[in-house]
Amino acid sequence: MERAEFLSKLGLGVAAVCAGCAIASCGSKSSDPSPGAVTVGGAPPPPAQGSGNLFTLDLGSQITNIGDSVVSNGVIVVRLDAGNAAASFTAVQVACTHQGTAIAYNAGQHRFICPAHGSEFSNSGAVLVGPAALPLREYTVSVDNTTLTVSS
Ligand code: FES
Repeated sequence: MERAEFLSKLGLGVAAVCAGCAIASCGSKSSDPSPGAVTVGGAPPPPAQGSGNLFTLDLGSQITNIGDSVVSNGVIVVRLDAGNAAASFTAVQVACTHQGTAIAYNAGQHRFICPAHGSEFSNSGAVLVGPAALPLREYTVSVDNTTLTVSS
C-alpha cells in the first residue's frame, strides 16, 4: 500500500489531532495532521462502567456537523447524523484495544481507525479490521434539548 493511500485511509485530516487533545472543550479539527508523528499508546484509559456522567457538550456550538468529534475523559463522541436525537451520536473509548493509541473517526468510511497499526472499528466499537481483537467500550449518549451527556 502506498503511503499516501494509507494516510488517506486513516483520514488523519479529520479528528486524529482532536483525539489527542484530551480537553473537554476540544471540538476543532486540524488541517495539519502531521501523519509521521503517530505515537503508539498513550491514550487515556476508558472510564469504568458505572462511572456515571462523564461529560456534557453544548450541541448549539459543539459537534454541529456530521463527522465532528470531541474527546474527553477517555471517550470520543461523534456526530453520525443530523438532528439532536441520541441516535445521531456514538460514544466509545478513545484508546485502541490493541496497544492504547488514540483512535480517530473517519466519516467517509463510517468507522473508527487507529493510526498506529490500522485497526478499524464500527460506529458501536465492534472490531472490523485487526490487529485489535477486542471491541471498543461503548458509552451511553443522552440528549436533553441541546445538552448532550455521555455516561457509563
Ligand atoms: S494500537 Fe491501535 S492498532 Fe495497534
